[in-house]
Amino acid sequence: MVDIKRIRADFPALSRTVHGHPLVFLDSAASSQKPLPVLEAMERVYRECYANVHRGIYAFSEEATLAYENARDRVASFINAPVREEVIFTRNTTEAINLVAYAWGRTNIRPGDRILLTEMEHHSNLVPWQLLAQEKGARLVYLPITDDGLLRMDLLDSLLDERVKLVAVTMMSNVLGTITPVREIIQKAHGAGAVVLVDAAQAVPHMPVDVQDLDCDFLAFSGHKMCGPTGIGVLYGKEALLEAMPPFLGGGDMIRKVEWESATWNRLPWKFEAGTPAFVEGIGLGAAVDYLTGIGMEAILAHERELTAYAMERLSALPGLNIIGPPAHQRGGVVAFTFRGIHPHDIAHMLDMEGIAVRAGHHCAQPLHRRLGLTATVRASFYLYNTADEVDRLVQALERVGEVLGQ
Ligand code: ALA
Repeated sequence: MVDIKRIRADFPALSRTVHGHPLVFLDSAASSQKPLPVLEAMERVYRECYANVHRGIYAFSEEATLAYENARDRVASFINAPVREEVIFTRNTTEAINLVAYAWGRTNIRPGDRILLTEMEHHSNLVPWQLLAQEKGARLVYLPITDDGLLRMDLLDSLLDERVKLVAVTMMSNVLGTITPVREIIQKAHGAGAVVLVDAAQAVPHMPVDVQDLDCDFLAFSGHKMCGPTGIGVLYGKEALLEAMPPFLGGGDMIRKVEWESATWNRLPWKFEAGTPAFVEGIGLGAAVDYLTGIGMEAILAHERELTAYAMERLSALPGLNIIGPPAHQRGGVVAFTFRGIHPHDIAHMLDMEGIAVRAGHHCAQPLHRRLGLTATVRASFYLYNTADEVDRLVQALERVGEVLGQ
């Protein structure tokens, strides 16, 4: 059980009013709010030991370096990475996936190879592979979904032939909420000789994720969706794969020795961290990991599941409201819907006038919306700080939207 009252007191933004109403923040799938320990950890660095990392010989800089590298250890243990060298700090999930597409993909993908994606991928786990496939003469193939937003696992074996070199799959859809059977997909993909990248942007913030148990080759996620700051994300990669990959970006910190014509590379993880890293944000992410661990990922998942089931029950009772995606027990805290033919932007605008923040649009998943015969949806997404009262406020506000704009 999570102590919601105590948790909410940790998030200053949640006590705001918007348009004269207490804020109801239902857009954590886009980016979460930040608790005081994260804000304080970052402020402490700026106030007390701000100096560039990995470079200074003086104590001040060493303090910042230690705090940054210590954050890496905490992230490694949060996802149960066997060694810290396998945790690369990136800007966000998108950059982590692009890193793999450039550094692994350009070395390993050849003409005629296939990359297997699913129909529910976010643009960030789609466009980097399109760019790679176009450059290399490879082909993208898609594991279809059912009309309920579940993966067609019955088709996986037939798509996984020897031409598939990479499988890139989300662990939880940012639109449908679907929690995918990644463990089974990884096992099958490995059986077919493919490498697997997991887009865990919506999973790591909301449930326990263990990279050794999954046996994924790469796993990407963002700090800003898990109570951490923007500008910091993570690529987990198996050491042997990372060792064999060329660098992604060149510059300071990622080198061992530089000549006029060539250079050699630093050890992992720094080989993939060119330039001054977002170390204050990395330290903030370490504090976010401590915060989430203190509450417990199992407890967070249970809370969101309960809230999602309640939200789906209440929302689906509204005449003309259609929720997309699977039943509550197969999804995380994301509920996207259409309502009485009203444009999602109009709904989001009217909700905003009542202090309720939701996302409206294609949620960076245009092909998925097209597959469902839609152009846009309204999405409410929940996190550890949301309450059943907030769901009630959403439902009541939607009733008013329906009265004013419903057809
Ligand atoms: N990927 C984020 C979302 O789904 C931005 O809203």
